Amino acid sequence: MTLRLSVIGTGYLGATHAACMSSLGFEVVGIDTDPAKIALLAQGKVPFFEPELEELLAQEIASGRLTFSTDISAVADCDVHFICVGTPQKAGSLAADLTYVDASLEAVAKVTKKGALVVGKSTVPVGTAARLRARLQEINPDADLAWNPEFLREGFAVDDTLRPNRLVVGVTSDKAENILKEVYASNLKDGTPWVRADLPTAELVKVAANSFLATKISFINAMAEVCEAAGGDVTVLAQAIGYDPRIGNRFLQAGIGFGGGCLPKDIRAFMARAKELGADQALEFLREIDSINLRARQRIIELVRKDLLEDLHGKKVAVLGAAFKPDSDDVRDSPALDIAAQIHAAGANVVIFDPKANENAAKRFPALTYANNVEECLKGADIVLHLTEWKQFRELDPAQLKGLVNNPIVIDGRNALHRESWKAAGWHFRALGRADI
Ligand code: UDX
Repeated sequence: MTLRLSVIGTGYLGATHAACMSSLGFEVVGIDTDPAKIALLAQGKVPFFEPELEELLAQEIASGRLTFSTDISAVADCDVHFICVGTPQKAGSLAADLTYVDASLEAVAKVTKKGALVVGKSTVPVGTAARLRARLQEINPDADLAWNPEFLREGFAVDDTLRPNRLVVGVTSDKAENILKEVYASNLKDGTPWVRADLPTAELVKVAANSFLATKISFINAMAEVCEAAGGDVTVLAQAIGYDPRIGNRFLQAGIGFGGGCLPKDIRAFMARAKELGADQALEFLREIDSINLRARQRIIELVRKDLLEDLHGKKVAVLGAAFKPDSDDVRDSPALDIAAQIHAAGANVVIFDPKANENAAKRFPALTYANNVEECLKGADIVLHLTEWKQFRELDPAQLKGLVNNPIVIDGRNALHRESWKAAGWHFRALGRADI
C-alpha cells in the first residue's frame, strides 16, 4: 500500500517537499500553524516566489493527493511525518531557535498512529535528533525518528527535491531506513547516492556542507580584497584556480557575499553548538568566514563614498537587486538590501528595483524608495549599484541606460556584468576585487 505522508511546516522547504512527494504518487497532507499560508496553499498559490513550484502545487492539489490543514489531527493516519519548520537565529544569540521544531514534535507525537516514522528535515544543532527521538518515544513508544537533511537551494527548490545529488538518512534501525527507501524509491532507481548515517552525523552533514560553501565564498572574497590591494583581478584568479578539479569553479563568484535564510545563520549556530560541545576551537575559522562576508558589504559602501566624494547626502543611488540571490524574492539577511539600507542611513536617496523582491524589501525597509522598473530606478542616478545578479540585469544595454543617469558610474557588486561593454558605452565601471582599469 502506498505510504501516506505528512509535512509539518510549509515554508520554502515544506511546501516544496509536500508538492514534490505528492507528484511521486504519495498522499500528502501539509500542516502549518499560519492559517493565511495554508489558505493560499490550499488554493494552489505559493506565498513566495519559487520557479516551477506554483504549477506543480496546482497540479498536485487537482490530483486530490495533496491537501493542507492547520489541524494537526489531520496527520493521525500518516505513516511518515516530515518536520520542515524553520530554525531561525535566536534573538541576542548565535544559536538556533528550536521552538518550532520542539512544538512540531510534541504535536505530532500526540496524534500519530503506532509505528509511524517522524523524519526531521530542518537544520538543527547536532544532538537535537537524539533528544527528540527520546521525547517522541516517551509519548509514543512505538514511533521512531530519523533525520534526513535537506540541501535544496532557493530558485532550484523543485529540481533539487526531485533530483537531489545525494540522500542522507540518519537512522537507528533498518526498519526506519527501509521506510525512507520506500519514500525515495524513485531517486534510488535513478541512482541517487544514498548515505546511511547515525543521527548526529546526519545532522552534521548539513551544517558541514553549508560551512564549506560559505568558506568557499569567503575565500574568494578574501582573494578579492588582496587583488584590490595588489592591482589584480579576482575574476581571472577564480577562473584560473577553478580549472583545478580539486578546487572546482563553482561558488567562487566574488562579490558582496552570501546571505539568505541558511548560510549565515547556519554557520553561526554551528559555532554556538561547537562551543557547547567544547569543540569551539575547531570552528574558530567560521568566525573569520563570517567577518570576511560582512566586510564585503562595507567595502562596496567605501567604493560608493569614494565615487561620490564622501558626501552621500541628497545623492541618488540606484540599486539593482534586493533579493539575497537571483530567482528568489527572499530578502532574509540579503547583502543587497543591507547595503541599500546603510547607504540610505548615510543620507543618500536610495531607489531600488528588484524583479521579484520589491514587496518583501519594502516590508523590511519601508523608508527606501522602490521603482517599478530599471528605467525608473536609474533615472537621474548619481551612481548605480548592481547587487543581485538577475539575468534581466546582466542583459541590460549599457548604452541605452547611459542617457538616463546623471552620472554614468556603475559598481558591479556581483562581478556579473560585462565590464568591456559597459566601459565601451562610456560608463565608469568598478567592481569588487578588480583593479580599476
Ligand atoms: C544554501 C545551500 O546552497 C543549500 O544547499 C542549503 O540547503 C541552503 O542554503 P540558498 O540559501 O538557497 O542555499 O543559496 P545559495 O545558492 O547557496 O547561495 C547563498 C548565498 O551565497 C547567496 O547570497 C549567493 O548570492 C551567495 N554566493 C553564492 C556568492 O556570493 N558567491 C558564489 O559564488 C555563490
